Amino acid sequence: MSFSPLTIALLLLATLLLYDQATYIRKKGKIAGPSFKMWPIIGPFLESMDPKFEEYKAKWDSGKLSCVSVFHKFVVIASDRDLARKILSAPRYVKPCVVDVAIKILRPTNWVFLDGKAHVDYRRGLNGLFTRKALVKYLPEQEKIYNEYFKMFLELSENEAVPFMHTFREFMCAISLRTFCGEYITKDQIKLISDNYFRITEALELVNFPIILPFTKPWYGRKIADMTMDIFANCAALSRKEMVSGKPPTCTLDFWILGMLHSQGKISDEQFQAIDGVSNVTIREFTNKEISETLFTFLFASQDATSSATTWLFQILADRPDVFAKIREEQIAVRDGDLNKPLTIEMVDSMKYTHMAVKECLRYRPPVIMVPYVAKQDFPITDDYTVPKGSMIIPSTYPALHDPEVYDNPDEYIPERWVDGSKASLNTKNWLVFGTGPHVCIGQNYVMINLVGMIGKAVLEMDWEHTVTDKSEDVRVFATIFPDDDCILKFRPSKLVSSA
Ligand code: HEM
Repeated sequence: MSFSPLTIALLLLATLLLYDQATYIRKKGKIAGPSFKMWPIIGPFLESMDPKFEEYKAKWDSGKLSCVSVFHKFVVIASDRDLARKILSAPRYVKPCVVDVAIKILRPTNWVFLDGKAHVDYRRGLNGLFTRKALVKYLPEQEKIYNEYFKMFLELSENEAVPFMHTFREFMCAISLRTFCGEYITKDQIKLISDNYFRITEALELVNFPIILPFTKPWYGRKIADMTMDIFANCAALSRKEMVSGKPPTCTLDFWILGMLHSQGKISDEQFQAIDGVSNVTIREFTNKEISETLFTFLFASQDATSSATTWLFQILADRPDVFAKIREEQIAVRDGDLNKPLTIEMVDSMKYTHMAVKECLRYRPPVIMVPYVAKQDFPITDDYTVPKGSMIIPSTYPALHDPEVYDNPDEYIPERWVDGSKASLNTKNWLVFGTGPHVCIGQNYVMINLVGMIGKAVLEMDWEHTVTDKSEDVRVFATIFPDDDCILKFRPSKLVSSA
């Protein structure tokens, strides 16, 4: 008996389709998810090109563990708080998962690709950059950026309300760049990077072509990433010169370089201890290139998340004059009658209500709704389900942060739920905004100081109105989450400060 080429081709195709469905059904086991792949091979690929928040929600509601399969990738989604925590704290079984092109954009030597002990050791060397003592030193440069951008907000919306989401992204980018590189980075370089950063976010979207072809999103993304890292390496070289000459540290780079000089014995213990803000962490020698790659990961980790938080904060405060008024009252009180007083860490510490308002914004609209990991080996996550090796496994933060058992009326914005001793503040296990475990966000204290100091000053110095549209409360997923109408605002100077 002989078969025509067409029959053979059809037989092969049928075998492939059967194999694909059988593999999916075996991996799925008893967890929630479609009983078979509705779209053979590709699965819900088209939906994942344009992910909708409501679709994620439906997935979380479908079960504590649910699954989906896109091409050959089997993805397990954990919506339950304890399962999410279990994944984030299981470095033996999982490691963070980055999209395929990330290695080309962030460069293969980047520390984000380290795992296990190598990751822990590297991270230990970075801790000195985010201590309270160091964060204090970053505040003056940050405040200069607040002043610059608040002026811009007023000018941009002088005649009419305009969408602010993109301006907030630039604002956050400028703050990060000044915090990391101080005065070594020029205004033009800040403008260049912040204007183009969205190219990097686009290049690293969950679904993108893994090969870098000219003029595609990953191609543009890599160009901007390379340019940014070159600028960082240049700043590192400048910081080396300044730190050797004894200039006081003002930015992340300075603290890094000082730590290295101390570890190498180039600065004596006495000289080192006398420098305000440094921490005694032993740091090996890093090249400027290595430093530039790491600073780039800080920018990458920070940019989308802080922009999301800032956008929601400005929107929510415009919609909630009661909260706005309480923040303003507190901001006046912490300045002891001098409304132009420069920000200090002690002032930020005493902004208790502003802190609660920011914390509630991060809970109500968590910038990072899920954190993709990959199973390095079969992972027996529950008594009756083992995540197969090689699967993507995604702990979600949103359901834990909207758990009605811990947060009454979880879909309402209520800063008061964070008063000391409250149910919300005692249930720290649900606070997954910054993740948990060995990869927990290294910048979380910096984030709180920056957001509290920034929004407090904004409330003091400006009034703003939100043009509410039927999309204002719709959540758009673009790496993090944003209001779907890009947050349309109009700013004007507050009478308080103009008359101060
Ligand atoms: C609102 C702002 C931010 C949010 C919500 C946020 C959230 C997160 C989350 C959920 C993770 C993953 C944690 C895990 O896997 O358990 C993470 C990791 C990380 N974040 Fe943030 N982040 C923010 C801002 C920042 C900033 C400003 C920086 C740097 C200055 C930063 C640096 C990092 C780094 C380096 C990691 C990876 C740490 C590691 O792998 O060891 N983040 N962040």
